[in-house]
Amino acid sequence: MRILVVGGGGREHALCWAISASPLCTKLYCAPGNAGIAQVAECVAVGAEDIAGQVALAQRLKIDFVVIGPDAPLVAGMADGFTAAGIKVFGPSKAAAQLEGSKSFTKELCRRHNIPTAAYERFTDLDKAIAYIKAWGAPIVVKADGLAAGKGVIVAETVDQAIEAVRDMLSGNRFGAAGASVVIEEFMQGEEASFFALCDGEHVLPMVGAQDHKRAFDGDKGPNTGGMGAYSPAPVFDAAMQKRTMDEIVLPTVRAMAKDGTPFKGVLYVGVMIDAKGPRLVEFNCRFGDPETQVLMMRLKSDLVPALIACADGGLDHLDLRWSDEAALTVILATRGYPDAYKNGSEIRGVAEAAKVEGVEIFHAGTKADGSRLLANGGRVLNVSAMAPTVEEARERAYRAVDLIDWPEGFCRRDIAWRAVGRKP
Ligand code: AMP
Ligand code: GLY
Repeated sequence: MRILVVGGGGREHALCWAISASPLCTKLYCAPGNAGIAQVAECVAVGAEDIAGQVALAQRLKIDFVVIGPDAPLVAGMADGFTAAGIKVFGPSKAAAQLEGSKSFTKELCRRHNIPTAAYERFTDLDKAIAYIKAWGAPIVVKADGLAAGKGVIVAETVDQAIEAVRDMLSGNRFGAAGASVVIEEFMQGEEASFFALCDGEHVLPMVGAQDHKRAFDGDKGPNTGGMGAYSPAPVFDAAMQKRTMDEIVLPTVRAMAKDGTPFKGVLYVGVMIDAKGPRLVEFNCRFGDPETQVLMMRLKSDLVPALIACADGGLDHLDLRWSDEAALTVILATRGYPDAYKNGSEIRGVAEAAKVEGVEIFHAGTKADGSRLLANGGRVLNVSAMAPTVEEARERAYRAVDLIDWPEGFCRRDIAWRAVGRKP
């Protein structure tokens, strides 16, 4: 099969790494890709959000199967574009991608089907939103209804903060159309985990859980980011928690989507908050997590390609995936300043040396080659990933590799997997 992966981040590097290892893949392309992806796929300079451009590229390259990585093109309907062109695609339709693209769509679905999640209301009117915030009190969570590049969620610690956030969103200044409607919800206590389930519209094949680290600095301090590191398995997401998440959240959702005529085909990213009562839904995403995919692909022992194809074609009920019992962990190296303003173009040295550390795999999230030099080209730049029998050893390996990388403009967290390291079962 000739396969095209759409995207150019660390998630897409990990997907390309897994797909390129499949005997089913005869030729792999990635658009736009990056300097690391170029080691396993042929990269073509077409933007990840350019629907017409990606469809034309797939036609020109005679692609048999397309895998869409990021959320924005899915929410904009890229999968429908490929389907209309008669090209098989991994990723949900625009209608099904509403599970990520519209917070109120998902909250309403949860309400109708009794899926456990935070209490909420949706508002387009500022005065009504303010009255609701005052009645609830703080802490309280304010979310732009639409897609806001991972920045549309404000966990407000005071009523004033919450009011400022709604004002910002409803005025259209901060998130444009994505903030024209807001969801205001109860603040949930607990421990967060990410879980992934492949769906073919009808059947669900559970993958495994992971934990992400959203804050920029050690000790979960600093601004929210796209994710500064991840590891899998996550002790809090054990087999019992996975079963409850499947029964109480994933299966009712997939059934409801099918019944409503918008079957979900692709990977459902289930963000859950876990407390003594069990899992509650924080959010769905309609694509693989970044950086969770990096650790998932390291632990996956089966061929990824047949599972992705089954999401498009059906038959996931006849498939099984095998996973390593070992721990995988990834540390994000980011450009100083991220998630705020930062500069592209600084040189990174020592990556080849670092990649030689036992059990280590380095995925590129935002890099560019300049002759033989490797340059930073993004906020999140490298994902230094490691596998080992225990999470402690995986962490030691990953940071040993990090320390071999010479990049004065970069920074990373030093405490990835702190919740698991030294935790008693
Ligand atoms: P989201 O973009 O929906 O994942 O939200 C980003 C982050 O905000 C989540 O990963 C949580 O850490 C936090 N968050 C979102 N909703 C809630 C909630 N209702 N209660 C507590 N934390 C939340
Ligand atoms: N790791 C968070 C995300 O992919 O949205």
